[in-house]
Amino acid sequence: MILVTGAGGAVGTALLGELRAGGHPVRAAYHSPAKTAEASANGIDAVTVDASDPATLAPALAGVDTVFLLGAMGSDQTTRERNVVETAKANGVERVVKLSVWRADEELTPIARLHRPVERALESSGLAWTFLRPNFYMQNFSRQFAASIRSNRAFAQPASRAPISFVDVRDIARVAARVLTSAGHDGVVYDITGPQALTYDEAAATLTEVLAEPVRFVELTDEQARAAMLQRGLPEFYADALIEVSRAYRDGGAETVTTTVRTLTDRDPVTFERFVRDHRASFA
Ligand SMILES: NC(=O)c1ccc[n+]([C@@H]2O[C@H](COP(=O)([O-])OP(=O)(O)OC[C@H]3O[C@@H](n4cnc5c(N)ncnc54)[C@H](OP(=O)(O)O)[C@@H]3O)[C@@H](O)[C@H]2O)c1
Repeated sequence: MILVTGAGGAVGTALLGELRAGGHPVRAAYHSPAKTAEASANGIDAVTVDASDPATLAPALAGVDTVFLLGAMGSDQTTRERNVVETAKANGVERVVKLSVWRADEELTPIARLHRPVERALESSGLAWTFLRPNFYMQNFSRQFAASIRSNRAFAQPASRAPISFVDVRDIARVAARVLTSAGHDGVVYDITGPQALTYDEAAATLTEVLAEPVRFVELTDEQARAAMLQRGLPEFYADALIEVSRAYRDGGAETVTTTVRTLTDRDPVTFERFVRDHRASFA
């Protein structure tokens, strides 16, 4: 039995679909009781958990061999994920596949510094572990930039000219599904990227071409970007973390393209153009 945490999020939803399509025994852990109810009504083995509260985790882990560990972004993310690791160990889980972040081991960014302590906890836990370290999600465009693309035909970010090998979360889910359902991944770190590295200007050019309407990338100063994020309702911690991430990769460091998706899923990773075509409705 595989427990998928973060099952209602971007990666979790896609992963649940992959595992169910493959006929694998899976339990979905949601935070929102409404999502649990909806999933249960659709015949999914679903539970509600709050990773901040270990008492809610133990029942979800009953009979589970393998955990897909995904922590929702937040200043207490490390604590929540460690709670899952400790409760998993105490409840007889054998293996944890942790969704981490690009270059987590270098702890360059606040987000890497949330993930790396959880990786360390797993390394010393006695549990079998695998780390998935994806680069920036293509879905950041459909989730964070889409409203602005729809209304202003533009998206604004802290200034950046460096290419990034954006990855589609559907590829992350396909990699995770393969790792969760096959042997030979213990103690392995997988760096996951899309098939090419694009600057934000190049991404805007692809959006322009596919949507057949001009879409611009607007460069902001860090201060302007921070103010805009706070105005959109992002918590201060999250806004500061995103600014530091863009600073860390402003002059490069997120452009490497890996073969992980091709090697583990036997198919080429989704291109940015394909991603935009598939999400046309959110941008149009
Ligand atoms: N965005 C990027 O470019 C990027 C790149 C690399 C790595 N990452 C990492 O990816 C992860 C986020 O993945 P995602 O975008 O798929 O997530 P997401 O869509 O934000 O979903 C997070 C899920 O966590 C659940 N959740 C929230 N609070 C919880 C709690 N207290 N206990 C248990 N579950 C809780 C939510 O459940 P409900 O749906 O039930 O409310 C939600 O489904 C982060 O760890 C981030 O660092 C992101």
